[in-house]
Amino acid sequence: MYKIVEKKELAPTVTLMKILAPEIAKKVLAGQFIIIRTDNKGERIPLTVADYDREEGTITIIFQEVGYSTKVLASYNVGDEVLDFVGPLGKPTEIENYGTVLCVGGGVGVAPVLPIAKALKEAGNNVISIIGARCQDLLILEEEMREASTELHITTDDGSCSYGVKGFVTDKIKEILEDPSNDVKHVWAIGPVIMMKFCASLTKNYDVPTTVSMNPIMVDGTGMCGACRVAVGDKTKFACVDGPEFDGHLIDWDLAMRRMKIFVEKERIITEKYEKEGNR
Ligand SMILES: Cc1cc2nc3c(=O)[nH]c(=O)nc-3n(C[C@H](O)[C@H](O)[C@H](O)COP(=O)(O)OP(=O)(O)OC[C@H]3O[C@@H](n4cnc5c(N)ncnc54)[C@H](O)[C@@H]3O)c2cc1C
Ligand code: FES
Repeated sequence: MYKIVEKKELAPTVTLMKILAPEIAKKVLAGQFIIIRTDNKGERIPLTVADYDREEGTITIIFQEVGYSTKVLASYNVGDEVLDFVGPLGKPTEIENYGTVLCVGGGVGVAPVLPIAKALKEAGNNVISIIGARCQDLLILEEEMREASTELHITTDDGSCSYGVKGFVTDKIKEILEDPSNDVKHVWAIGPVIMMKFCASLTKNYDVPTTVSMNPIMVDGTGMCGACRVAVGDKTKFACVDGPEFDGHLIDWDLAMRRMKIFVEKERIITEKYEKEGNR
């Protein structure tokens, strides 16, 4: 059993939890994820590791309530224990000294970007970051991203962040890439699939290598079931073992989006049942 030692609401429906898992904390690296199961009736929920403390033996996860299982997880409190916490899974981010890099996080996607930005800065990169959300209330980890970056830009769709820019993260990416003095060598873009799709298609015009983190539906997390397959160039890859990070310029985005919608109706039914009856 894995104990929850800290819980914080970062934004409406976005929760941070610190979980005691010393074996995972010992070896996890930026870009990797865990699979959590609250109890013996729970579904497996893949979540990126947002932070870790090797001495404390804790792993930080940040998740958005989107359906049944994430709502159940959000109902857990400090002192409660989750049944399974498996990891670290997936391949770590390829951290090198690239020069100037651009880290872009949209919505809850800022959580997986944070450890990548930190590791890139530690490796000597000049880290320019952009975080974006629909409105200011939904912006997360602003201070942490400011610390992890040499330069931080903020965008909100509705312009509600007075010290940020009204618009999408892609507007800011374009501005930064058009300024030759920045000489950006690599971009990481993580967030909703539609955001990653538009980021990748924009950076392709500037010929800047772009890494995205795919979040397809997963079942076993071991490369056996095939649920998380993603078409990358002319190859089929499994996000759990080959990813979750891939070359954004090679992803078949439309197929990825279609696959993520497969269980929408079933998920709606079970979420409504949970909200009405509160039991499982
Ligand atoms: C490697 C990986 C890392 C992830 N990291 C994070 C993270 O750090 N924080 C976080 O909040 N989420 C993350 N996700 C997404 C998270 O796993 C899903 O949101 C969660 O499993 C949904 O479970 P649910 O039962 O609450 O919702 P469901 O009932 O399964 O789904 C509810 C709705 O959400 C949609 N949905 C289902 N799965 C996903 C998905 N994988 N991505 C987007 N929409 C989905 C469904 O189409 C449906 O409309 C990650 C996914 C992967 C594969
Ligand atoms: S989740 Fe089963 S192959 Fe990736």
